[in-house]
Amino acid sequence: MPHVITQSCCSDASCTFACPVNAIHPTPDEPGFATAEMLYVDPDTCVDCGACVTACPVEAIGPAHRLPAEHKVYIEINRALSAADPANAALDNPDPGSRSRPPMALAVPPKRLRSREGDEVSVGIVGSGPAAMYAADELLRYGNVTVDVYEKLSVPYGLARFGVAPDHKRTRRVSELFDVVSKDPRFHMHLNTTIGTDVTIEQLRERHDAVVIAVGASTDRKIGIEGEDLPGVGSATDFVAWYNGRPDHTGETFDLSQKRVVIVGNGNVALDAARILTAEPHELDDTTIAPEALAALAESQVEEVLIVARRGPEHSAFTLPEMLGLTDERTVTVDPDPEVAESLAAGSDSELVARKLALLESLPTTPTVGEGRRVRMRYLTTPATIETGDEGLVLRAKHTTTGEDLELPAGLVLTSVGYRGRPVPGLPFDEQRGVLPNKSGRVLGEDGEPLPGVYVTGWIKRGPNGFIGTNKTDSQETVAAFAADVALGVVTSRPAPRERGGRLAKLLRG
Ligand SMILES: Cc1cc2nc3c(=O)[nH]c(=O)nc-3n(C[C@H](O)[C@H](O)[C@H](O)COP(=O)(O)OP(=O)(O)OC[C@H]3O[C@@H](n4cnc5c(N)ncnc54)[C@H](O)[C@@H]3O)c2cc1C
Ligand SMILES: NC(=O)c1ccc[n+]([C@@H]2O[C@H](COP(=O)([O-])OP(=O)(O)OC[C@H]3O[C@@H](n4cnc5c(N)ncnc54)[C@H](OP(=O)(O)O)[C@@H]3O)[C@@H](O)[C@H]2O)c1
Repeated sequence: MPHVITQSCCSDASCTFACPVNAIHPTPDEPGFATAEMLYVDPDTCVDCGACVTACPVEAIGPAHRLPAEHKVYIEINRALSAADPANAALDNPDPGSRSRPPMALAVPPKRLRSREGDEVSVGIVGSGPAAMYAADELLRYGNVTVDVYEKLSVPYGLARFGVAPDHKRTRRVSELFDVVSKDPRFHMHLNTTIGTDVTIEQLRERHDAVVIAVGASTDRKIGIEGEDLPGVGSATDFVAWYNGRPDHTGETFDLSQKRVVIVGNGNVALDAARILTAEPHELDDTTIAPEALAALAESQVEEVLIVARRGPEHSAFTLPEMLGLTDERTVTVDPDPEVAESLAAGSDSELVARKLALLESLPTTPTVGEGRRVRMRYLTTPATIETGDEGLVLRAKHTTTGEDLELPAGLVLTSVGYRGRPVPGLPFDEQRGVLPNKSGRVLGEDGEPLPGVYVTGWIKRGPNGFIGTNKTDSQETVAAFAADVALGVVTSRPAPRERGGRLAKLLRG
């Protein structure tokens, strides 16, 4: 029996490098990698050695015969993804394992960075989320690089700690990987240090040979409708930060005395928020949830969470593994609508979309009475305004295709329409995309040319999408650009080391 990739897959792709027979796909150099919802093990190639199990930071891989009952479905999903992968079909090869191996150059850089300026190369990284920590890991593979990480919060690792849901225990274990990186003697963490306020980018550039910006996307997108700022309307961004105990969100309140919560947007964050809102208190006991949130949820009167999407089910933003997880643990229904039923029946050419549609089609359209807390999925519903109403609030919307007026009463409304990057003072910003303009991780100045020694990675580089592990390949690209620039002498020289150290120490003391 082969090994199988399951729900907590974070696309870190370490498994693809660990696998001795190249059975795990897509690899970072294969076309489907950027958009893959999860990786898969090709069952015909897997030799069942377990090397991938050790490499995976989030315990997503296991031998098929030892999977818990709720993960057995992934045996078929891995097999189906493998069969549907055009790369396998294109091979027309009796031995799919002979597909070319991913290039190892990025994963195993040379031991020392070839610098024209001198021996030691000092890099400052702004932020300590997954993108920053994967960048640090890559940089520290060079024996002559030192890394200083500057994090505005008192606790590191960004959304790996304050985003990932508290009941996703396996995924949260990725922090242990980052702990290992943090223990490197050439790594230094400066917590409670906000770049742009406590220390400027210019000051950091004086201190370090290069600066890598990895500040993530720290705010929420707005729907842009009237009533979004009414009392009782909040964002999933804040709700998630609150239940995860993010230090700057303690003391926040959400009115959980309400029976119905409407969440706008149907991405994985909406699913996380819905699962937490409908959890029975004992399900959260043995998790990392903030005590304050646990106490509030224990008193919660919420009976129903309605997840509202403006498009049809074929465009659902959630991933298949997360929806499978939700339907395993909660009563989930799909609001009846003839057009939605048609889309569900139509299926899709994409293996993953087809499976999502089949899963949604298998769900009831109305809950059985007495089934307790439930999650309702609603499609083709475009929000128009939020007003005060009988249940406290009412989301007025239009049916996306027919234009029919819709009225969705709610006690609490959470917007979950994605995250958004903020400008970094002292650097150019692409307002439209909410990212730092860059080419392969080199930050571009106003003239469109790379700013020497300034790099970017993670959500503030590519936008707020992808899994924890997606940031690994992203950071590898950025570090490769940095290493090439050092070799070419593009990274500028700095003042003498003693002067630099003294100046920064003063700055940090404020
Ligand atoms: C709610 C939620 C749940 C998620 N769950 C999962 C999951 O289960 N599995 C999965 O694979 N992916 C998950 N993801 C996606 C994953 O968390 C992201 O891909 C990843 O965290 C992005 O990494 P980043 O380093 O770019 O940003 P972040 O993780 O946001 O890190 C940015 C860091 O920079 C710091 N910072 C910001 N500004 C400054 C400044 N001026 N000075 C100093 N420091 C600063 C922040 O405090 C933060 O620590 C989730 C995302 C969200 C939003
Ligand atoms: N377990 C996990 O692996 C996990 C958990 C959480 C998050 N993540 C990842 O983190 C990233 C961010 O997730 P997310 O859920 O915040 O964002 P997301 O996946 O981008 O979903 C955003 C949702 O908001 C909707 N939306 C956007 N603008 C809207 C508007 N003006 N009006 C109504 N709806 C609107 C989108 O609909 P349209 O499609 O119609 O635009 C979509 O349904 C994703 O890549 C996600 O996979 C992963």
